[in-house]
Amino acid sequence: MRKPAVLLALTLMGFASLVYADETEKGKEIFTQVAQPSCIICHTLADAGSAGAIGPDLDDLKPSREQVINAVTSGVGVMPAFNESLSTEQINAVAHYVSTVTGGGK
Ligand code: HEC
Repeated sequence: MRKPAVLLALTLMGFASLVYADETEKGKEIFTQVAQPSCIICHTLADAGSAGAIGPDLDDLKPSREQVINAVTSGVGVMPAFNESLSTEQINAVAHYVSTVTGGGK
């Protein structure tokens, strides 16, 4: 009797982890290619293979998702705002990516 519910739960979990991985991949692409000027010019992030030194080293900073969203949306200091060149969805994806690979927000 319970089998269908268990199977349904497992299917949903599998789907959720696929979506999660997909969001991280998309965020990485935005970090390394889509955002202009690219985040890699200014930031060091081991997962992205970047060694920019104009902005803070993100591996050390370990920013939370909200911190990345704020910085990318509005800009900070010499860092430009990306709210006109990236969609809210893209900003969320890059924030998810940076906070996930650095273990930020913990
Ligand atoms: C032109 C260089 C430049 C680019 C391009 C750039 N940044 Fe930055 N970023 C900076 C600088 C400089 C700071 C520090 C600003 C300050 O604190 O005055 C910063 C700060 C940050 C912070 C920390 C904010 C905080 O709360 O302290 C995050 C997170 C960040 N950037 C992420 C990104 C992401 C993601 C991208 C790409 C979408 C990006 N940056 C593109 C230069 C840049």
